[in-house]
Amino acid sequence: MASSAATAEKVAEAPKPIYLKDYTAPDYRFAKVVLDFELGEEVTVVGNTISVEPTFAAGGDPRPLFLNGDPTVELAGVEVNGTALDASAYVLTKKGLTITAPPAAPFELKITTKIKPQENTELEGLYKSSGNFCTQCEAEGFRRITFYQDRPDVMSEFTTRITADKAKYPVLLSNGNLVDSGDLDGGKHFTVWEDPFPKPAYLFALVAGDLGMIEDKFTTKSGREVALRIYVEEHNLDKADWAMVSLIKSMKWDEDVFGLEYDLDLFNIVAVDDFNMGAMENKSLNIFNSRLVLATPQTATDMDYSAIEGVVAHEYFHNWTGNRVTCRDWFQLSLKEGLTVYRDQEFSADMNSRGVKRIGDVARLRMAQFPQDAGPMAHPIRPESYIKMDNFYTVTVYEKGAEVVRMYETLLGKDGFRKGMDLYFERHDGQAVTCDDFLAAMADANGADLTAFKPWYSQAGTPKLDVTTEYDAAAKTFTMTCTQSTPTTPGQSDKKPVLMPIAVGLLASDGSDMELTLEGEAGAAGETTKVLRFSEASQTFVFTDVAEKPVPSILRNFSAPVRLSTDLTQEDLIFLMANDSDQFNRWEAGQTLTRALLLDLVEKAGKGEELVMDQAIVDAMRNIVNLAKEKGADKAFIARAMALPSEGELSEMVVPADPDVIHAARDFVVKTLAKELKEELLWTMRDNTSEKYERDGESRAARTLKNTCLALLSYLEDPEIDAEAFRRFKTADNMTDQISALSALSGRADCVEREEAIDAFYEQWKHDPLIMNKWLGLQAGASLPNNVENVKRLVDHPAFDIKNPNKVYSLVGGFVGGTPINFHAADGSGYEFLGDIVLKIDKLNGGVAARMVGGFTRWRKYDEKRQEMMKAQLERIVKTEGLSENVFEIVSKSLE
Ligand code: PHE
Ligand code: ZN
Repeated sequence: MASSAATAEKVAEAPKPIYLKDYTAPDYRFAKVVLDFELGEEVTVVGNTISVEPTFAAGGDPRPLFLNGDPTVELAGVEVNGTALDASAYVLTKKGLTITAPPAAPFELKITTKIKPQENTELEGLYKSSGNFCTQCEAEGFRRITFYQDRPDVMSEFTTRITADKAKYPVLLSNGNLVDSGDLDGGKHFTVWEDPFPKPAYLFALVAGDLGMIEDKFTTKSGREVALRIYVEEHNLDKADWAMVSLIKSMKWDEDVFGLEYDLDLFNIVAVDDFNMGAMENKSLNIFNSRLVLATPQTATDMDYSAIEGVVAHEYFHNWTGNRVTCRDWFQLSLKEGLTVYRDQEFSADMNSRGVKRIGDVARLRMAQFPQDAGPMAHPIRPESYIKMDNFYTVTVYEKGAEVVRMYETLLGKDGFRKGMDLYFERHDGQAVTCDDFLAAMADANGADLTAFKPWYSQAGTPKLDVTTEYDAAAKTFTMTCTQSTPTTPGQSDKKPVLMPIAVGLLASDGSDMELTLEGEAGAAGETTKVLRFSEASQTFVFTDVAEKPVPSILRNFSAPVRLSTDLTQEDLIFLMANDSDQFNRWEAGQTLTRALLLDLVEKAGKGEELVMDQAIVDAMRNIVNLAKEKGADKAFIARAMALPSEGELSEMVVPADPDVIHAARDFVVKTLAKELKEELLWTMRDNTSEKYERDGESRAARTLKNTCLALLSYLEDPEIDAEAFRRFKTADNMTDQISALSALSGRADCVEREEAIDAFYEQWKHDPLIMNKWLGLQAGASLPNNVENVKRLVDHPAFDIKNPNKVYSLVGGFVGGTPINFHAADGSGYEFLGDIVLKIDKLNGGVAARMVGGFTRWRKYDEKRQEMMKAQLERIVKTEGLSENVFEIVSKSLE
């Protein structure tokens, strides 16, 4: 049959997935590697001398040695024990190099390659950014430098020699300790670096450039003096202090909380402008996207400062969770990422406000991870297969992975968790291990049976948790019936129940926490939050000695990453909003309340019915805003509690989603709240406006609250408010306030100050690429009618650069993620724009293109017309010749 032949042909061409179940240990160990880089403007030559040791018993047939490679790498020589190999002794393909019959005893393999970093637009392997050389090797970039067993379970000691022009590249860095350096003929110089810790190739790094540096030091608790250096372009030297402060705090925190010390005498951070991701934990030479290093109050927002603090910590923490103990294979990525995200979340919670940090993290999980878990790209935190590993650096592996780690802590307690961590390092330091090893360490250190916990690693999809409650006044018991189920996801229909901790409190009518006794358990005196171990499809928990009918606070601190539904009434929720001692659940009660209102209004708007605001919610919100008047008010929390569920979050809950209707309903609620609370908002805004910029926690919280008020007020479309925002824009002495005011002005076409402010901002900051990202992102995400035309114009603006990932994420990502009404414009113009630009980006950088094409993955959520238009774009993309594997994987899975 012709059609099946055509299909067969397509399948034969399609990139093949790699499966976890196919894992086998490597046949050869790489004990030592000596790299020799001759950096050049035209060609860079890389020598790679490996001490190879077979891992199998001598005798029997020789086993081939496969080295991963890439078509961009030119093979210039292969030698075994000093003798050039005859071309018949190896096979070279697009995917790599196979030495067909290597010696049976340990031998030295020397590979010479030629590469062109200046032409590398994928930004993986060795490339150039702002004229400097730098590397990015995770996950599989090392194979774009030389031929190698590029897999994390091959760990070796690296020595790296770098030779380059001294005037152009005065700074030459690699991992470990500097052991030699000097000048050479022809204006060149060299350095030699030795890293004593065996590591996989993905942790290799090299930097060569003309960079300035700030320096500090840290003395570890056992007395090691560590030199800390941050390298940035000379003109940015005044912007690196906060990153240094964050680094020092991280080093101290990891000693205090986990007993983990730094293990070398030098720790370097380098900031580069062109970087696919946030940052990279290369051993002792972390490379960062400059947006996560550079900050002054005038150029960076409070949010930027927090992001820098969190990511500097994250990369530093990887030194133990990732580098000293690494992953056996890439399916285990969450072993290092989930754990390290959990660690950086805890660090930030300790440095700032714990409750507000938790709220932010959960909001992000819901906004980004829940949709992924409900769509065609749904995968377990330990995926079972991939085509391109780059596509699995996801919110699921990272953020859901962190939630899974957090559940160990909730189940085992802080001390139990620490015991598990200690045992994990005791067992696995220097090894490449699996998620099962981590679970085993946690279980063994605590004598706990965690078998029922395992499905968190293998099952995709967000579990649904239903809780119904009953109070028996005569028996004084309070009964909670819990039911769980995990929805079907692609390729997984049969889901098991999973062990989840449900943290519960019971509130008395005066709002206080009751002391809790669980039936069948001795009540610990004074305990007011109980962690229920819920592991069956359905289970009942009975609290005894409950003196009056309580209002339950369920899933405190979001103790499990699930979708919770309960039988709490609106009255209960308002009560919790006012009284819950658990800050997360106080916020959550408000979210549940407003979510229900919004969903109801979305339904009404869809039917063309009149929208009526619920006065009880206006009052509850008024109470929240008024909290700001109280002494010692937690203003960061108040600002959080004032924010309504986003249009994106709502569209996940409506089938089919109509972005226009959702926008109309939400807009109605925000406008009504702004109108009803105008006086309170104006008062709070003014009361929290300070004379002068400060960066302490209280000042930051007041700033957030003030700007949240301004954002709400801007919905009034009131010329006086606009004028006030414009005044604030012009007089701001810091970026947080300036961009907040600009954002208040830039969302509406009818705002007279809009264009003037946008132009003024551009003139003021056009020399600073990081601030230009903000300028692009703000315009891309505005809910102006027909904003797609604006965005298209911005693609041709000098502030945009399609080769720079940050610019693409701001403009294209900002458009797709920021404005459902524009991206989903009924005429399909938003879809067409994304389709066009994805194909352009894909020619330069498949990883970045794949992240952008993700905007289409949830196409089945929408009405038929939109579905058809999105699907048409996906089909057009998948048929494009020369498509990257990255985009192919996302698009083909979306169409399945
Ligand atoms: N491992 C990096 C981190 O999480 C992320 C990263 C992955 C960076 C792949 C670059 C490439 O810290
Ligand atoms: Zn990480």
